[in-house]
Amino acid sequence: MAKSKLRWQQLFDKVQQCDMEKGQFSWFSNGSLNISDNCIDRHVESNPDQTALIWEKDEPGTEERVSYKELLDMTCRVANVLKGHGISKGDRVAIYMPNSPLAVASMLACMRIGAVHSVVFAGFSAEALATRIQDASCVAVITTDQAVRGGKIIELKKMVDSAVEQCPSVRNVFVASRTGADVPYQSKDVSLDKLMEQADTSCPAEQMESEDPSFMLYTSGSTGKPKGLLHSTAGYLLYVALTHQAVFNCSPGDVYACVADIGWITGHSYVVYGPLSNGVTSVLFESIPTYPDPGRYWEMVERLKVNQFYTAPTAIRLLIKAGDSWPQKYNLSSLRTLGCVGEPLNHEAWEWYNKFVGQSRCDIVDTWWQTETGGICITPRPSESGAEILPGMPMRPFFGIEPALLDSQQRELIGNDVTGSLCIKKPWPGMARSIYGDHERFLDTYLRPFPGYYFSGDGAHRHSNGYYQITGRTDDVINVSGHRLGTAEVEDAMDEHESVAETAVIGTPHEVKGEGIYAFIVLKDESTEDENKVKMELKEMVAVNIAKFAVPDHILIVPGLPKTRSGKIMRRILRKIAGGELSALGDVSTLADPSVVEVIVKLHVVAR
Ligand code: WTA
Repeated sequence: MAKSKLRWQQLFDKVQQCDMEKGQFSWFSNGSLNISDNCIDRHVESNPDQTALIWEKDEPGTEERVSYKELLDMTCRVANVLKGHGISKGDRVAIYMPNSPLAVASMLACMRIGAVHSVVFAGFSAEALATRIQDASCVAVITTDQAVRGGKIIELKKMVDSAVEQCPSVRNVFVASRTGADVPYQSKDVSLDKLMEQADTSCPAEQMESEDPSFMLYTSGSTGKPKGLLHSTAGYLLYVALTHQAVFNCSPGDVYACVADIGWITGHSYVVYGPLSNGVTSVLFESIPTYPDPGRYWEMVERLKVNQFYTAPTAIRLLIKAGDSWPQKYNLSSLRTLGCVGEPLNHEAWEWYNKFVGQSRCDIVDTWWQTETGGICITPRPSESGAEILPGMPMRPFFGIEPALLDSQQRELIGNDVTGSLCIKKPWPGMARSIYGDHERFLDTYLRPFPGYYFSGDGAHRHSNGYYQITGRTDDVINVSGHRLGTAEVEDAMDEHESVAETAVIGTPHEVKGEGIYAFIVLKDESTEDENKVKMELKEMVAVNIAKFAVPDHILIVPGLPKTRSGKIMRRILRKIAGGELSALGDVSTLADPSVVEVIVKLHVVAR
């Protein structure tokens, strides 16, 4: 597959040499290729005028098309600008931009010169951006003057200004125009648009070794600061190309729309690298599902004649609430495959997606994977003709993936009808290779919990028919509208408040978001505080330190937290209280102070 699917500058001599225990992975050794050459030049040679990207802009009904030839031109210009500012192979470049052709060209430009991009979701705060820039010592940031989402202006450049103040490694900030607003320039700022006008339109593609890092992307774990997962070059590209083609049943000429943001792994693998390496037309969605109304996706599907559509369960649940009439207003006959990712696609949402969007004629693919896996690992595959697809689970491993379920004694569970920690038994080309600057943490998190296996952090059930169903995270990671967050990150942000003694954050079922955030707060001195004021300040602190989507839905001020005698917070009990399972709190007698539970329950009931 690697030989036939990819264009090599030099062909590899070994397929794989991997060691799961040591965390050493080498796929396609002694080979070299360039991802931008595979995603653009190859297609320009055969079909230069084919549309590579359709930019579905925030402003309803406004689309812009970019051919593969134009994308090459744009990418080479950006690459030459970066090179002209001393950026070269191995340098890290932060990209903080909303979805646009220029953002994609910026990613591909980094690939072209071998710079490692670190895309930071443009919904993250300045503080979160600064932490990520510092961790990777990025030498440059690419951004836009402003962003627009759902008709609202976001002051992107201002955020970059305050982030970059804390980041001495940054030599230049490249500012592109999105709205044309007159934003003040700082000493490191240069206009990307002006520099691109003068730049050369050709730029040779750097020769990249198969295992050279291609990009890094931060994601949350259960403890500590977000980790920058490092991905490879050849293995990653092969894996996203294969999965994209087989899972979505996608071929050149198709109009494929994954509505994710490029700031997440789904945007990397299935808006940019998968579809472009396969030469299809990829839609870049800049807006939100309810702007100007809940028919936005379906109006777009009709207008652009979309064949494959890929979204998140949270968006589907939101649209279910808006009513069945929205998808019924539009002609959705172009659709063939409907995908979902990010959290479990519950039965009700699956049925609605199938009936009202797919008109009971499309294949539904519930795809399970992670930032760490690079691409889809468990999913139905409609290209296997006639294979059954059942609601409520991702079902079958993709080829090359060997899932295993393990119990708490690290024993692999054999046979069906078993539930355990979801692991993968054999290396696969798309897997992340390390955490930037901290390979030990990579080993501790993924490879040491179950020696010889990759551990996902999720639990799963293998049904009697052999199909896999995901049961959710087994750690303190929560999933809010498909955005991954560590409870510790939210706690750390609130612990900074001067009146706060202690915090405990948990995820709790939420009708639309999948999980909502519930924070229990202990104040240093409850008697002197205005509780509402503290709550407002805490919400603000989370928005400023992390992002708006991380702001707790509920904050409950309590006199103490349920702890074991050794001081460990019993989150299990908090989860039950938050979820309203008040009669199922279980044995609390082992707590240091069991009476605190009763008080918390009372406060929770009053607050509801
Ligand atoms: C969850 C997103 C159930 C899971 C590509 C995983 C899912 C985390 C599914 C990764 C699915 C993703 N069914 N749960 N189909 N897909 N998840 O890194 O908990 O943002 O570990 O990658 O999302 O989130 P991440």
